[in-house]
Amino acid sequence: MNILIVGSGGREHALAWKIAQSPKCNKIYAIPGNPGIEEFAECIEGISISDNAAIIDFAKIHAIDLVVIGPEAPLVNGLSDELTAAGIKAFGPSKIAAQIEGSKIFAKDLMKKYGIPTATYEIFDDVNRACRYIKAAGAPIVVKADGLAAGKGVIVAQTVDEAINAVFEVMEQKSFGEAGSRIVIEEYMDGEEASLLAFTDGETIVPMIPSQDHKRVNDGDEGLNTGGMGAYAPAPIMTEEILHKAEEKILKPIIAAMSKEGITYKGCLYAGLMVVNGEPKVVEFNARFGDPETQVVLPLLESDLVEIMLACIDGGLDKLNIDWSNDSAVCVVLASGGYPLSYKKGLDIDGINKAKALDTLIFHAGTVKTEGKLVTNGGRVLGVVARAGDIKSAVDKAYKGVEVIHFDDMHYRKDIAYRALK
Ligand code: AMP
Ligand code: GLY
Repeated sequence: MNILIVGSGGREHALAWKIAQSPKCNKIYAIPGNPGIEEFAECIEGISISDNAAIIDFAKIHAIDLVVIGPEAPLVNGLSDELTAAGIKAFGPSKIAAQIEGSKIFAKDLMKKYGIPTATYEIFDDVNRACRYIKAAGAPIVVKADGLAAGKGVIVAQTVDEAINAVFEVMEQKSFGEAGSRIVIEEYMDGEEASLLAFTDGETIVPMIPSQDHKRVNDGDEGLNTGGMGAYAPAPIMTEEILHKAEEKILKPIIAAMSKEGITYKGCLYAGLMVVNGEPKVVEFNARFGDPETQVVLPLLESDLVEIMLACIDGGLDKLNIDWSNDSAVCVVLASGGYPLSYKKGLDIDGINKAKALDTLIFHAGTVKTEGKLVTNGGRVLGVVARAGDIKSAVDKAYKGVEVIHFDDMHYRKDIAYRALK
């Protein structure tokens, strides 16, 4: 098969790495891809991932059999629908199904209607009413912009003042544009987070190995929220019992709920969970693979990813055996100093081959080649991934890889997987 991957991050590099191992895979293209993906795919410049028509033209000309959509924006923009209408298989939910991530209000209302455990909430389109509500409810409390805000539209406020400031920033100063014209204010959940990704064909839903992300920029979960500074899998917080509850009370019911509403969700569903007193509750749903979670989950997948993706699209996921390794995997994200605020770009990156020689996988996120040299080009630059028999050994191996990589101002967390090692 000829397979096109849409996207350019560490998630897409991990997808390309895994897809390339499929016996079904003939040739891979990526729009736009990155210098790491180039090892497996022909990377195409000059087509925007938001230009559905140009992507469809490309797919027709290059006889693409399957398009794998990485990020949320093209899903919310209807790329999957338009590819399907053009007779091209697409892995990733339809525009309406992607509202589970594209609109927090859609997701919360659906969960409420079908009794799926999540934080209690209210919806506001008026600043004064929102502020009155916050004063009455007290802190800590969580303020969320309704629409897509590149993972930044959530403010976990420790005080009433902080929450009110967040309301003004989101609704009046429009710091996330129209995404903030309506907001969700919800109960603060005190617990431990986990990421549960799942494959679904719209009827059957099969969880992947549970993982845990590290959203804060500094050790000990301090500092600003980021896209994710590292991940590991499996996450011991997700015991057999909690995983079973998550399947029965969250994954199966949400797919059934959408189906009842006339929405068939196909692809990867990401449930961001908070485990509160042994009960999993939904923090958020994403309509795609997580990043960096995918960088640790896919290396543990022993089955053919392309076969699973085709079953998600065509149906019959219930008939597939999906095998996972008993190993553990750890990803340490190497970020540009300053991220998630402003940072320099164009800094020379050294040591990737040395790190690979130490049995690590290096997934590129924000890199670019200029005049034959690899330089930094984003906030999250590389993911250093190691697999081993247990988390501790995987952590040690990943950090050995980190030690031999260098770029100026390189920042990374030194405590990835600390919760699993406690
Ligand atoms: P989200 O973009 O919805 O995943 O939110 C970003 C982060 O904010 C989450 O990963 C949590 O750490 C935190 N968060 C979101 N909602 C809540 C909540 N209701 N209670 C506690 N923390 C939350
Ligand atoms: N790592 C969080 C996300 O992919 O949304």
